[in-house]
Amino acid sequence: MNKNVTVVILAAGLGTRMKSKRAKVLHEAGGDTLLNHVIRAALQVAPAERIVAVVGYQAEEVRKSVRFSGVRFAEQAEQKGTGHAVLCARSSVETQQGQLLILNGDGPLLRASTLEKLLESASEPGLGGAILTTEVADPTGYGRILRNAQGNIAAIVEQKVATADQQKIREINPGVYCFQAGAFWRHIGEVTANNPANEYYLTDMIEILTGHGHPVKPVLIADETELLGINTRVELAVADKILRTRKTSELMLAGVTIESPETVTIDADVEVGTDTVVEANVQLRGRTRIGSECRIGTGSVFWNCEIGDRVMILPYVVAESSSVGRAASIGPFSRLRAGVNAEEATHIGNFVELKNTRLGAGSKASHLTYLGDSTIGATVNVGAGTITCNYDGHKKHRTDIEDNVFVGSNSTLVAPVRIGEGAFIAAGSVITNNVESDSLAIGRARQTDKSGWAAKRREIAKREE
Ligand code: UD1
Ligand code: CA
Repeated sequence: MNKNVTVVILAAGLGTRMKSKRAKVLHEAGGDTLLNHVIRAALQVAPAERIVAVVGYQAEEVRKSVRFSGVRFAEQAEQKGTGHAVLCARSSVETQQGQLLILNGDGPLLRASTLEKLLESASEPGLGGAILTTEVADPTGYGRILRNAQGNIAAIVEQKVATADQQKIREINPGVYCFQAGAFWRHIGEVTANNPANEYYLTDMIEILTGHGHPVKPVLIADETELLGINTRVELAVADKILRTRKTSELMLAGVTIESPETVTIDADVEVGTDTVVEANVQLRGRTRIGSECRIGTGSVFWNCEIGDRVMILPYVVAESSSVGRAASIGPFSRLRAGVNAEEATHIGNFVELKNTRLGAGSKASHLTYLGDSTIGATVNVGAGTITCNYDGHKKHRTDIEDNVFVGSNSTLVAPVRIGEGAFIAAGSVITNNVESDSLAIGRARQTDKSGWAAKRREIAKREE
C-alpha cells in the first residue's frame, strides 16, 4: 500500500435521476452501498485515515452507512459542484503532498488493480496527474476528453457545454482522477463557476494544471463496465449483476462449486471454503462465513452466519446471526433466528425453529420444534414437537437441558426450568418444575382404558339408524 496516497471520495450529491428520497450513494448493489464499494477499493491503495468522503445530502445517514473504521468525512453543506466538493475536503486531508486520488462516490465497479495502474501512470515525472478514460458507445451525459497534440488531455468538456462536434467524442471521463497533490491544492482556488450550471467543475482543473505546466495524462481503460457511474436505477441493476457475477466467479476460481451461479446472491464480504457446493437460488448475505466441504441446499438464506467445515445444509434453511459447528446437518426447512450456536455434529431437522439457543455437540432436534432462550447440553435428543415456553406474556425465561437428556415427543417445557443430566421426559409431558438428573418426569394425565366402550357405542349408533 502506497503511504503517500490521499483519497477524496465525492459523495455529497442527491442523485436526482435516482428519483429517490435517499442519497444516491446509499443505494445498494452487490449487497453493499455504492459508497462502501468505492471505499473498499480505496482501502487497497491507502490507509483508512487517508480516505476522506465528502458528504452533504443526508450527511448523517451517509456517515453511518460507512462500515470501515478510520475513514474521515468532510461536509459540503451546499452542493456547488465537484470542484467545490474537493475543496471542502481540504482541511480534512492529512497532507497536501504525494498523490491525490479523487473518486466519484457513484462508481462501485472500480477495481483496486485499476487504481494501482492509475497511480503508477500519474507518478511519471513532470506530470500534474493522470485520469482514467474509456470509450463508450453512448457518451451522453459524460464529460468528453479533448486530447492535445502531445496525447495528453487538453480539457474535459461537460455535456451541457459541449459543442455538437465535441458531443461526438466517445472517449469520456468516468470520474477517477489522480493528481500531484502539491500542484492540485495550489491551484484548486482557480476553478470558477463560470458555466451554465453555475457549478465549480472539478474537471476544469485539467486546463488549469496544464496551463501551469503540469500536463495531465489519459489512461485509457478497455473494459468500460468497471467505470460505470450509477445515475439511475437501471444502471444500479446493471452494477448489481456485475458485482454478483464477480463475486461468484471469484469464489468458483478459489475452489467453490456454485450451481447456476446466475441465481445465487453472495455479498461482497462473504467467505466460502474450498470444495463447498452452493446449490441454485442460495443467498449468502452480510458477513457470512462458510467452511470447506459443506453443501448449501437450494433456497437457503444466511445472514451474518458462521458455518464450520463439512456442514450439510439441506434445502430452504433460513438463518441469521448464528453459528453452526463442523459436521452439523441442518434442514430442510429449518429456521435459526439470532443467537443460535449449534455445535459440532448437531442435527436440526424440518420445521424446527431456534432462537438465542445453544445446542450442544451431537444433540438433535429433528422435527417440528421450537427452542428459544435455551441452553442445551451434548447428545440431547429433543423429540418431535417439543416446545420451550420461554415467554409468559411479559418476560422471557430460560430453559436449561443438561447433557444426555431425552425429551419425549410433544413435550412442553415451561420456562424457567432445568432438566438435569441424563433425565428422561415422557412423551406428551408438560414440564413446569425442575427435573432431577437421571430421573423420569411424566407430566400428563394417566391413561384410562374403558373396555368394550367403543363396541357399545357402535351398537347404539346402529339402533338409531
Ligand atoms: C461528473 C463529471 C463528468 C463525468 C461524470 C462521470 C464533473 C463536473 N463532471 O459529472 O465529467 O463524466 O461525473 O460519472 O465533475 N458531488 C458532490 N458534490 C457536488 C456535486 C457532486 O459531492 O456538489 C458528487 C456526487 O455525489 C457524485 C459525484 O460527485 O458522487 C459525481 O457527481 P454527478 O453529479 O453525478 O456528476 P456528473 O454530472 O455525472
Ligand atoms: Ca454521475
